[in-house]
Amino acid sequence: MNQALEYAHAHADDFVSQLEDFLRIPSISTDSAYKDDVRRAAQWLADHLQAIGIDTVEVMETGGHPIVFAEHIVDPERPTVLVYGHYDVQPPDPLELWTSPPFEPVHQHGTLYARGSSDDKGQMFMHVKAAEAYLQTVGETPVNLKFVIEGEEESGSAHLTPFIEEHKDRLAADIVVISDTAMFAQGVPSVTYGLRGLAYVEVILTGPDRDLHSGVYGGAIENPANALAKLIADLHDDDHRVTVEGFYDDVINLTDEERENYHKLPFDDDAWMASVDVAAVETEKGYTIHEAITARPTLDVNGLWSGYQGEGAKTVLPSVAGCKISCRLVPDQDPNDIAAKLRKHFEKHTPKTMKLDFRPLHGGYPMLVDLENPAMQAAAAAIEGVYNKTPYFTREGGSIPVVADFKKILDLDTVLMGFGLNSDAIHSPNEHFGLDRFDEGIRSIIRFMQAYAEK
Ligand code: BES
Ligand code: MN
Ligand code: MN
Repeated sequence: MNQALEYAHAHADDFVSQLEDFLRIPSISTDSAYKDDVRRAAQWLADHLQAIGIDTVEVMETGGHPIVFAEHIVDPERPTVLVYGHYDVQPPDPLELWTSPPFEPVHQHGTLYARGSSDDKGQMFMHVKAAEAYLQTVGETPVNLKFVIEGEEESGSAHLTPFIEEHKDRLAADIVVISDTAMFAQGVPSVTYGLRGLAYVEVILTGPDRDLHSGVYGGAIENPANALAKLIADLHDDDHRVTVEGFYDDVINLTDEERENYHKLPFDDDAWMASVDVAAVETEKGYTIHEAITARPTLDVNGLWSGYQGEGAKTVLPSVAGCKISCRLVPDQDPNDIAAKLRKHFEKHTPKTMKLDFRPLHGGYPMLVDLENPAMQAAAAAIEGVYNKTPYFTREGGSIPVVADFKKILDLDTVLMGFGLNSDAIHSPNEHFGLDRFDEGIRSIIRFMQAYAEK
């Protein structure tokens, strides 16, 4: 292990410049104009895995963007770690808000700026470099390794579940490890044991069959924008709880012990509010900000449209109003069940003056991992070895739906060893990753492989 750590130290600059090459490929999965670039990123990664000495590397077709699968079996007696990550990225817009072009990585003062630097090319690449550090020194990794690196995570992972089902045997492992989440704060390491799930729907109300003159028809024809606004306003009560019937039925509440742990974390409400420039917050009654953003379910409008949006005034009574709504879910809420409950809610409350079009878009299950899992303990020990601090075990509010599939289809638990920060601006302009965290991540993963092999 020490040789691997020394190798990582000696090659730190090379690692960064290789990551920069990877980041130059605009692998935007949701936009078909970038289809060839997405494939180019998959091929770049596959070539790189081959070059560092991984035995078997394949770019596998899925019907969508390809999955990079790699396998390095040192000894069937050793435990097998399955690394999951994604090489696709979010669209970079709005482009004008970037201070340097999103696909021309630059690093200054120890920070690397580029789309995908933190989510997830930079974080996933740490696993590749950790493997290389072993392969290029001692010649073997302490554990057997498998990599499943997909190219559709940022656009819904449509082909991933069938891929896992189809390749169950090849994906057999003892644990999944993912670096695609955040640590608690700069210099405050953590291991994530919970993620939220997601139910995403679109709701469209239609009133009259065309836009109407609001003077000629206004007063009798109900306006879909008015009606949708009321429906949306009624989705929360005065305690800021979601009013959809049965929404909380399957929620596992925080245990007393968990809440005690939450209160021990150095979460600074004022700093958090200042970081997004708000003067006050509105959480579900009885919950702190940190609890509300990680361990409680939400319902948020993500997009809203109706009527005239152009310059100046147009007196029109719109025919249509629509919105996109996402709910972040916590264990044991089921995304399909929540979407069905939302449908029922809208069917019941849509006024007779409107036609309702309700469309579920996509979803994902929430997750919680058992802290007693030996891999969780190995991850904590590895991180402690790098930071000289015991990591906190924390829950996060984002979603990685495939984690539930790994459990359901392969019966595998997942260790979330994230080195991002919530301030990395993932999905936003000026996404960045700290090169200190890139290095700490690589060293933590090197230590994790050794620690897990010894469990
Ligand atoms: N890496 C993120 C998820 C994430 C971010 C988890 C920060 C924890 C902390 C991932 O790439 C992502 O963006 N996930 C989507 C999933 C969705 C499209 C199903 C999300 O959370 O919105
Ligand atoms: Mn990600
Ligand atoms: Mn993302």
